[in-house]
Amino acid sequence: MSAIALLVEKFDRALVAAFGDDLAGTDPLLAATNNPKFGDYQANLAMSLAKRLKQKPRDIATAIVEALDVSDICEPPEIAGPGFINLRLKTSYLESQLQAMLPGDRLGIAPVASPQKVVVDFSSPNIAKEMHVGHLRSTIIGDAIARVLEFQGHDVLRLNHVGDWGTQFGMLITYLREVYPDALTQADALDIGDLVAFYKKAKIRFDEDEQFKEKSRQAVVGLQNGDSEARKAWKLLCDQSRREFQKIYDRLDIKLSERGESFYNDALAGVVADLDELSLLQEDDGAQCVFLEGYTNKEGKPLPLIVQKSNGGYNYATTDLAALRYRTTQDGASRIIYVVDVGQSSHFEQVFQVAQRAGWLAEDTEALHVPFGLVQGEDGKKLKTRAGDTVRLRDLLDEAVDRAQQSITDRLAAEDRTEPAEFVDRVASVVGLSSVKYADLSQNRTSNYIFSYDKMLAMQGNTAPYLLYAYVRVAGIGRKGGIDFAALSEGTPPAIALEDAAELALAKHLLGLDEVIDTVARELLPNRLCQYLFELSQKFNQFYDRCSVLQAGEPQRTSRLLLCYLSAKTLRLGLSLLGIEVLDRM
Ligand code: ARG
Repeated sequence: MSAIALLVEKFDRALVAAFGDDLAGTDPLLAATNNPKFGDYQANLAMSLAKRLKQKPRDIATAIVEALDVSDICEPPEIAGPGFINLRLKTSYLESQLQAMLPGDRLGIAPVASPQKVVVDFSSPNIAKEMHVGHLRSTIIGDAIARVLEFQGHDVLRLNHVGDWGTQFGMLITYLREVYPDALTQADALDIGDLVAFYKKAKIRFDEDEQFKEKSRQAVVGLQNGDSEARKAWKLLCDQSRREFQKIYDRLDIKLSERGESFYNDALAGVVADLDELSLLQEDDGAQCVFLEGYTNKEGKPLPLIVQKSNGGYNYATTDLAALRYRTTQDGASRIIYVVDVGQSSHFEQVFQVAQRAGWLAEDTEALHVPFGLVQGEDGKKLKTRAGDTVRLRDLLDEAVDRAQQSITDRLAAEDRTEPAEFVDRVASVVGLSSVKYADLSQNRTSNYIFSYDKMLAMQGNTAPYLLYAYVRVAGIGRKGGIDFAALSEGTPPAIALEDAAELALAKHLLGLDEVIDTVARELLPNRLCQYLFELSQKFNQFYDRCSVLQAGEPQRTSRLLLCYLSAKTLRLGLSLLGIEVLDRM
C-alpha cells in the first residue's frame, strides 16, 4: 500500500478516536509538500473541521496528532501555522519500501483487486482514406491508456472502429468501374496511395456529376443489399487499406482488433426498432430521430439526433449506438473509452445521452469520450505539408527517423566514436519513433500541440531522448563496473541505505510510481506519467552528479547500485506503458 493510502487509514482511526464515529471517512486533505522543510506530506483537515467541531484548528490538530499512530512510517508529526499537520517519512520506511520494489518486473505494484472489462476504442481510421496525422494522436494516446489499464490487470479490449462503410464506397466503386475495373476484382491491383488518389477523383466526380452521383447511390444500395460484385469490391478495398494501416501499427508496436462500422450493420434496424419500442423515436421531416435533452436550436427548439435518414439509411450515430450496446451486452464492458478528437465531443455526448435514456448504459457502466486537441505546425495552424496537403503518417514517421539518424551521426562524429551501421539504424528508429510518441503523450491531451521535430528530438528538456539517455547512463554504469544488476537484487538483496539528500529525493520519487499509474488510469491523462518519468530522470541525474557510485566504498556502493537499478527499472516500466522501448546504448 502506498504511503498516502496508509496515512489516510491512520488519520481515519485517529479522527474516530479523537472525535467519535461521526467523523469516520473524513478526507484528511493530504497533500505532498513542495518544500522539504515541511516534510513530505501536509494534512489540512484541522482547518476545515473547525466550524463543524466548534474548536480552534490548532486544538483540533493537537487532538488528532495525539491519537495518530504513524510511528511505523513517519517521524513524529509537527503542527505548523494555524493547524497544518506536517509529516516526514522515516528513512527506514523508505528503505524497506524500496527493497520491496526489487524483486520481479512490477516494482512491487500489485494488480488491482477488482479488474474491469474495459473497451478502448482508438485509432479508427477510415478505409480508402490515408491514415493521417489526425489519427496519430488517437493511436498513440489510446495505446498508452490501454497499456496502463492492462498493467493494472484489467481485461482490455482494444477496438479499431474503422470507417469501413458508407457513401465513400459507392463513389469509389462507381469510379473504379469506369477507370480501373481490375482494381475491383484483383487483390493486388492497387496500393493505398492509389486508392486515396482514386478516392479524391471519385469525390470530385460525385460533387460535379448528377449521373455519377446517382450511380454511386445505387452502388451503396447494392452493397447494403449484399450484391455480390459490390461486396467483393468492397472487401478488396478494405483489405488494401488494412494492409497499409497494419504497416503503421507494426512500426509503432500497436496491437488492435479491428471491428469496423460494418460489423454493426445487422444491428442497426434493431436499434431503431428498440428506440421506437421505448417511445423515444419521433419522425421529423421523414427522418427517424430522438429529440435530445439540453440541445436546442436558435429558436429554442430541441435538436434531434437522426438515427435513420428519410431515405432509410443509417448514420454514424446509429452505428455508435449499436456498438455501445454490443460492448455492454456482448462484451460485458463496464468501462468504454473513446479516444477521439475533441471535434466529436457533441457526437459522443448525444450518443451517450440516447443510450442512457434507452437503458443501454447501466448505472455502473461508464462511457467516456477521451478527447484530444489538434496537431499544429510550427506556424500554429493545423499541420500541413509545404504543398498544403494533410501530412501522411508514414512520411511523418520517416522524417522523424531520418532526423534522429542525422543527429546520432553528428553526435558520434563530435564524440569521435564509430559504430556499425546496424547500431545507428536501430538507435535512430527507436529514438525517432519514441520522440514522436513522447512529444504527443507528454502534452495534456486536451490541448492542441505544436509538432516540432527539433524540440522532440532534443537531448535536453522533457523529451524522449532525455529519458532514454537517463536509462543509458545506468546501463553504462553496469557495463563499466561489470555489474549484473539482476543478480545483485536476487534472493535476499543487500540493504539500501539512504544518506545524501539527493538519494532521499530520488528514493521518494521512485516510491510514487504506484500512485501515478493509478492517477493515469483514473484520469486517462498519460502526460502525468510522462511528467513523473521526466522528474525521475532529473532526480536520477542529480543523484548521479552528486553521489559517486562505482567509486564509493561498501556498503554504500551496493546500496547506490541498487538505487541506479531501481531507477532504470522504473524508467523501463514507465516508458513501456507509454509504448516506448529503451536502449542500453545510444
Ligand atoms: N472513423 C472516425 C474518424 O476518423 C473515428 C471513429 C471513432 N470511434 C467511434 N466509435 N466513433 O473520425
